Amino acid sequence: MKRITRVGLVTSGGDCQGLNAAIRGVGKALFQHLDNNVEIFGMYDGYRGLIDGDYKFMEYDDFCGILTEGGTILGTSRQRYIPGKAIVDEDGNDLMPAMRDTYNRLNLDCLVVMGGNGTQKSAKLLMDAGMNVVTLPKTIDNDIYGTDTTFGFQSAVDIGCNVIDYIHSTASSHSRIFLVELMGRDAGWLTLHAGIASGADVILLPEIPYNFEKIVAAIEHRKKMGRHFTIIAVAEGAVSDQDKQLSEEERRRIKETSGHSTISYRLASELEKATGQEARVTVPGHYQRGGPPCPYDRVLATQFGVAAAQLIREKKYGHMVGMQHGEIVAVPLAEAASQTKFLPVDHPLIQTARDMGIFFGD
Ligand code: F6P
Repeated sequence: MKRITRVGLVTSGGDCQGLNAAIRGVGKALFQHLDNNVEIFGMYDGYRGLIDGDYKFMEYDDFCGILTEGGTILGTSRQRYIPGKAIVDEDGNDLMPAMRDTYNRLNLDCLVVMGGNGTQKSAKLLMDAGMNVVTLPKTIDNDIYGTDTTFGFQSAVDIGCNVIDYIHSTASSHSRIFLVELMGRDAGWLTLHAGIASGADVILLPEIPYNFEKIVAAIEHRKKMGRHFTIIAVAEGAVSDQDKQLSEEERRRIKETSGHSTISYRLASELEKATGQEARVTVPGHYQRGGPPCPYDRVLATQFGVAAAQLIREKKYGHMVGMQHGEIVAVPLAEAASQTKFLPVDHPLIQTARDMGIFFGD
């Protein structure tokens, strides 16, 4: 009699487009190659399901009809993570024993953990605690080390680009400065790609601190050239050169006392004062993470999911599936979890944008 392979699925951290496509990829490829010799358990709400032993036994049909669905059919959650040390509850209690207990009780061969930058790091803790783990890189931020791209990213770029496309006509009609703030945490990938794709005039990224006076000068220069509106794509983590000198604590205090909820609102108010021109802010927020994955992400998430199933069949655990130079690769999880992939300031795409006259505020 053939041995049954038992796999747990976990979607963890902020959701994004393509999670269901990846779940489907893993599930269908396992059934395809192992026939009925596989049992799959979907953990509800990410690690929460693993901690509480709250899961769904998934049959083949559960993996059908979900390719285009946004979000995750399993639900997700964020857990408190002490960097490199532990996943803990509100009282600081280590949750690893509970997770290991569920893993052992279900007699799992492996967990497939789909998550962002933080999840790769916490999945490594599970690996260190003796569980077999294969991970998939999902995030709109594209900030996971060891992979050129992540699923969810391209869908979010499409949405960010679409928002700026629509803002263009109203900005132009009213001769206004428009700031469109995009997600990405402390990495500028999403804003850079959406900004270039939509023809933003100024792109402000966390990796390139901006100089306020230089932005004002760029807007005035545009006016002299007959361009009476300016579109600024602002990454949510963008920071001025002055604020960059401050400690995180001081920056947090300034934000709290400024009366502005995000960097774009603060900058808009400062720009109105300095230029005398009306400024408006659009923050698409979580809209960037919602809705169906774009075709690119459907393909990528399917490739990643199928590759995870292959790793499980080969018993090649402790790896993250990634994409490097167009090839699907298995990256050691220790490497993927070792750092965050920020946008290099000398990235060729930044130079391309500079060559087009796009201004980065520096
Ligand atoms: O990491 C994905 C992301 O959408 C970031 O771009 C953003 O800063 C953050 O999550 C928002 O988190 P939450 O969904 O918890 O508000």
